[in-house]
Amino acid sequence: MKERIVLAYSGGLDTSVAIGWIAEATKAEVIAVAVDVGQGGESLETIRQRALDCGAVEAYVADAREEFATEYCMPALKANGLYMDAYPLVSAISRPVIVKHLVAAARQFGATTVSHGCTGKGNDQVRFEVGIQTLGPDLKCIAPVRDLALTRDKAIDFAEKNNLPIETTKKNPFSIDQNVWGRAVETGFLEDIWNAPTKDVYNYTDDPTFPPVADEVIITFRKGVPVALDGVGYSPLQIIQEMNRRAGAQGIGRIDIVEDRLVGIKSREIYEAPGAMALIAAHKELENVTIEREQARFKMTVGQRWTELVYDGQWFSPLKRSLDAFIEDTQEHVNGDIRLEMHGGRATVTGRRSETALYDFDLATYDTGDSFDQSMARGFIEIFGLSSKVASGRDQRAAQ
Ligand code: ARG
Repeated sequence: MKERIVLAYSGGLDTSVAIGWIAEATKAEVIAVAVDVGQGGESLETIRQRALDCGAVEAYVADAREEFATEYCMPALKANGLYMDAYPLVSAISRPVIVKHLVAAARQFGATTVSHGCTGKGNDQVRFEVGIQTLGPDLKCIAPVRDLALTRDKAIDFAEKNNLPIETTKKNPFSIDQNVWGRAVETGFLEDIWNAPTKDVYNYTDDPTFPPVADEVIITFRKGVPVALDGVGYSPLQIIQEMNRRAGAQGIGRIDIVEDRLVGIKSREIYEAPGAMALIAAHKELENVTIEREQARFKMTVGQRWTELVYDGQWFSPLKRSLDAFIEDTQEHVNGDIRLEMHGGRATVTGRRSETALYDFDLATYDTGDSFDQSMARGFIEIFGLSSKVASGRDQRAAQ
């Protein structure tokens, strides 16, 4: 029997050519795997047919949108996952769900090798291959662009020579990766880091300079997960989609940064994540209201480490799993409503309401009738400052 290789397939030029390219180079049969994580565009049925037309012996397609929203985006939200305080892990969280389906397809069709279309310069190759090694330690990995010298020009030649049913003339100047959590754009003129992004870079967001009237939304959370918008219950996927639409219309969630890749390269990245950024802003504030001070401080450290692990392709690692358990525990009382005003590129919290709040009006109020005994403060401050006071006494004696 021929060896079989599963290929992460997008339906685009490079992975369409990769089907025949891999088959030629390895003499193996290629099985195309397409996973819908909310990237939009063509239907899974169209993509399946193209894979078969390009020479795949089988095509595995999966609508993983709910799975991605629930099991990948929601954990990122609970962690307030922002790499370098800015990037909401859009591509980083989609690789592990794709890996799950690649490994499942490899099992289903008896493949020995998994293949992806990444170059040798990015993070995504690491995320794919570390994930595959972890979930399927017996599986081998190949990357045609990196390992089998499949360049863009060769891809166009190959497609034309073999009459593949795929557009080769359309020139997209950017490398784009998108899903329901957001959109990543790189390369082209953006590689000159002095160049400002042009309007055509953006797709999920409208220009925040000319916003429509302000949009106010009430987001209800249960255990750190958004469950309703303006009182209407939705699934995580529906909430992200709806927030993408509403926050996107206000130009919220445009990000332009020079980012530290795992492989040591600094790269210019433009992201758009309207729903994710608005939801993170709301979630963070509800945490401020409901999580105890020391736990909240430590959660910042844990969330940061979680984010770095996920960025670095360690989604399936033991440490990531342990940090998940901590984060999950902190979300127990993150219940309630956040009112968010969205306007002109900003999502601003204007109200919070929670049955599980630690905010205590009687403790906080400056009006008469508060329950806080101010006479306690004197002694507290005396002791709190004592070690510094003792040390400064010593320093002054030493200086004499
Ligand atoms: N730099 C981002 C990351 O590593 C985005 C990568 C997006 N990939 C792409 N082909 N544009 O998560």
